[in-house]
Amino acid sequence: MKIGIDKIGFATGRYVLNMDQLAIARQTDPDKFTKGLMLDRISITPITEDIVTLAATAAETILDQEDKEKIDMVILATESSIDQSKAASVYVHHLLKIQPFARSIEIKEACYSATAALDYAKAHISLNPDSRVLVIASDIAKYGIKSAGEPTQGSGSVAILVKADPAIAIINNDNVAQTRDVMDFWRPNYSSTPYVNGIFSTKQYLDSLKTTWKEYQSRQKAQVTDFAAFCFHIPFPKLAFKGLNKLFDKETPAEHKKQLSSAFEASITYSRQVGNIYTGSLYMSLLSLLENCQALQSGDKIGMFSYGSGAVSEIYSIQLVDGYQSRLEANRQAYLDQRQEISVNDYESIFYADNPVDQEGNARFGDYLTGTFALKAIQEHQRIYEKNDK
Ligand code: CAA
Repeated sequence: MKIGIDKIGFATGRYVLNMDQLAIARQTDPDKFTKGLMLDRISITPITEDIVTLAATAAETILDQEDKEKIDMVILATESSIDQSKAASVYVHHLLKIQPFARSIEIKEACYSATAALDYAKAHISLNPDSRVLVIASDIAKYGIKSAGEPTQGSGSVAILVKADPAIAIINNDNVAQTRDVMDFWRPNYSSTPYVNGIFSTKQYLDSLKTTWKEYQSRQKAQVTDFAAFCFHIPFPKLAFKGLNKLFDKETPAEHKKQLSSAFEASITYSRQVGNIYTGSLYMSLLSLLENCQALQSGDKIGMFSYGSGAVSEIYSIQLVDGYQSRLEANRQAYLDQRQEISVNDYESIFYADNPVDQEGNARFGDYLTGTFALKAIQEHQRIYEKNDK
């Protein structure tokens, strides 16, 4: 049975911070961010937007009534969870009006877990061929003001509908995963921002890629020339660029290097303008590739490199199906351009606004721009969401 990606939806914060402005405020050469990290803008979310509103907004753009009647599992992958017990997917399931006899769970392993979610979705559908599974990667990446990671923040959600006979890509059965216990990036329960061994984390990312790729090559008898493109987890595009170059060796034909490099540029188009969206970052890269690379054709194989600090990495491949283009947005750039640009001062107050819950557990929030759904209030410690018509 062919199982894979049938639809992909995307949502990001409705405010945007320009990297040149941030560089000036931080007394840094703007080239460090735009060339050194390859980032131009990052999405900023206010307190009324969280992993639930981003996830529901992303999924709402792709689901029709038939999907909502057939989805029997919602898996939300995140590392910026809003609750230690209740899964964010339960709220999302409700907001999207998905039929009630569905399983809803949240899944975690830093930026990696959406990849595990897709594999679980595939296994579930292979046993239940009529089922549709909604996998959503949703995160808000916050490193803190003036931290080294500050320019790599971002926010966003990628919603993927998985089913048999998919319209975009088949997920192949060739996954090779690796786990290594390292402290490169982690966030204890008592901290709202992560602890990061920045340079060490980049080394772990690249070494995980190199060693997992070697194992993948040996198990699958694969060559870099088997692939029309590669997508990477993108904490910031420069690191993924270094990753791409790790796949090349002296045997790689110059023409193929050129093809993969050109596909890579297409795959970072959105990341350059959104920043790191943690779990969704690899899948935003896929969306960016599919919507911006004219050279791709049905039947092409795309390599996927997933990495989550801690660390778990995985390489697998997908195969584009006939007519995949019809499922994509013709002008996603317009959606990105509609974000409201804000000053560094506004970014600091919007992004880091404290949760003003009173002793009874109540809070109301100001009027900010959000996607289709917003966090309206907290009442007796319960989060209240609403659909807005803005
Ligand atoms: N003009 C052009 N380039 C410049 C420059 C200038 N004026 N000044 C510096 N640069 C370049 C540097 O040469 C460097 O590029 P190379 O690596 O190619 O040499 C690049 O800009 C970055 O500069 P630094 O090495 O000085 O590093 P930094 O202070 O910007 O910090 C970082 C980089 C430590 C990775 C930081 O961004 C960070 O902590 N990020 C968060 C952690 C992270 O993203 N880790 C990635 C792996 S972990 C993971 O993947 C999970 C996840 O999503 C978090």
